[in-house]
Amino acid sequence: MSEKYVIAIDQGTTSSRAIVFDHAGEVVSVGQLEHEQIFPAAGWVEHDAAEIWNNIREVIGQALSKANLTRHDIEVVGITNQRETAVVWDKNTGEPVYNAIVWQDTRTQEIVDELAANGGVDRYKDRVGLPLATYFSGTKIKWILDNVEGARERAEAGDLIFGTTDSWVLWNLTGGIDGGVHVTDVTNASRTLFMDLKTLAWDEEILADFGVPVSMMPQIRSSSEVYGTVAGNQLLREVPVAGILGDQQAATFGQAAFTAGTAKNTYGTGCFLIFNTGTEIVHSSNGLLTTMAYKLGDAAPVYALEGSIAVAGSLVQWLRDNIGMIATAPEIEELAAKVDNNGGVYIVPAFSGLFAPYWRAEARGAIVGLTRFANKNHIARAALEATAFQTREVLDAVNADAEVPLTELKVDGGMVANEALMQFQADILGVPVVRPKVTETTALGAAYAAGLAVGFWKDLGELESNWSEDKRWEPAMEDAERERSLRLWKKAVTRTFDWVD
Ligand code: G3P
Repeated sequence: MSEKYVIAIDQGTTSSRAIVFDHAGEVVSVGQLEHEQIFPAAGWVEHDAAEIWNNIREVIGQALSKANLTRHDIEVVGITNQRETAVVWDKNTGEPVYNAIVWQDTRTQEIVDELAANGGVDRYKDRVGLPLATYFSGTKIKWILDNVEGARERAEAGDLIFGTTDSWVLWNLTGGIDGGVHVTDVTNASRTLFMDLKTLAWDEEILADFGVPVSMMPQIRSSSEVYGTVAGNQLLREVPVAGILGDQQAATFGQAAFTAGTAKNTYGTGCFLIFNTGTEIVHSSNGLLTTMAYKLGDAAPVYALEGSIAVAGSLVQWLRDNIGMIATAPEIEELAAKVDNNGGVYIVPAFSGLFAPYWRAEARGAIVGLTRFANKNHIARAALEATAFQTREVLDAVNADAEVPLTELKVDGGMVANEALMQFQADILGVPVVRPKVTETTALGAAYAAGLAVGFWKDLGELESNWSEDKRWEPAMEDAERERSLRLWKKAVTRTFDWVD
C-alpha cells in the first residue's frame, strides 16, 4: 500500500494555510495565502469570510500540487483556527450577513459594560471560565444581531447560524447549503462565553441574557471524531474531516503537552501560553482563563489555564504597515541586533486593551522612556522585548496558580525563529526555553487530532515519540539586571491604564 498523509487546514488571523504531514509528523508541503485585514474604525478588526473560504480552497490546491498528491493520498482532514472570530451566515444561501468580527476587535465594550452592570465581569466565570470581555465571540454575535438590519428576526426564524472559523470552514467543506455540517469542537466552544465547562453544553440561561437564539449555535463535539466527509471541495472529495482544535489548543497538542503540568507558548499574531491542568477545572486567581485543552472522542475532557496576550507579532506588522519603520517583518531583527539593549525604551502594545494578566479594556498602547539618544534600533528591540516581558508576566500568573512552578517553557510559532528573542526570553523568564524540531505545531496538532480519530496514529504515546528538541536557550542574565528590566516594564505598563476621555 502506498504511503498516506494527513492534511491540516490552519485558518489563522492573518493567513490561511494547508499543510500536508506524513506519519512521522514531518511537514511534506505547505500552501498559504494572506487575507485582508479590515479596520473600519479605531478598535474594529474584520475579515471577509467569503475571501477566507476561497483562500482555503486555493491553499488546499497549493499544498496538494506541491507534494504531487491527490485526494486518494490523503487519509483525513483536520482543522485549526483563529479562535473567537465570529461569523454569522444564512444557512439557506451560505452568505455571511456581516464581515467576520475578529477576536482583537473591541467594539463590543458597551455590550460588556451592560452585561457586567448586573454581577460584574466575572458573573459567568464559574460556569464558563472566562470574564466578560470584548475578546470572546459571544459579545460579537450579540453585536451583529443588534446592529445588522433584520439579523435578529432572521436568526429567530432559524435562518442565520453562527460559527467561529472552524465551523465556517467545516460547513463549507462538507457541502455548505447542500448538507454542510454545523459543528464546532469543545475548545472553540469554550471561547464563546456560552459553554458550560462541566457539561460541555450551551448554557441556555447565558444565551438568553445575550439574546442569542440557541438555534444559531453549532453542535458541540469532541476535538477528535469524524464530523463528516468533504463534499464542498473537489480536491478533497469524500475525505473524512475528523479533527478540530482552536489554534492555541492545537499547538499544545502538537507540542505533545498531554500531561497535567506541561505547557507551551505560541508566538503568533498574539502570544498564548497554555498550561495543561488535566481533567481538573482550575479557576485562576491571577488573571488567567480557564479553558478546554481538548477532548478526544469519548475520553474525559482535558482542561487548561491560558494566559492570552493580544499583541505579539502584530506589533511588528504595525511598525511595518502603519508606521513604515521597516519594509518586511524580518528587518525588525536586523535593526534590533544593531544595539545591545533597548536604550531605556519600552513599548506596551495595548492595542486591544491589555489581556492577561491585567484584563484592562481601557488601556491603550504606549512607547515610554524616549530620549534624544533613542533611535529606531532601540524601538525595534523594545518591540521584540515587549513579547518576552508579557510572557514573563503570564508565566508568573501560571506559577502563582499552579502548585508546581514551570521549570522550562516549550515554544513555537513564527517568532521562535528569532534566536536573539528566544535568548532574551530565557533571560527574562529565568528558566530554559525549548524549541521543537517541528515548529508547525498548530497545524500538526490538528493533523494529530484528525489522524487519531481514524487510527492513522494509534495513541498519544506514538505522538509523543514524534516530538524532539531542536534547541534550548538557558537563562544567562544577571538576576539584578533581570529585576531592573522587569521593574521598568511594569512601570511602563501602568502608563497605559485609564486612557479614557
Ligand atoms: O485567540 C486568538 C488566537 O486563536 C489567535 O491566534 O495565531 O493568530 O495569534 P494567532
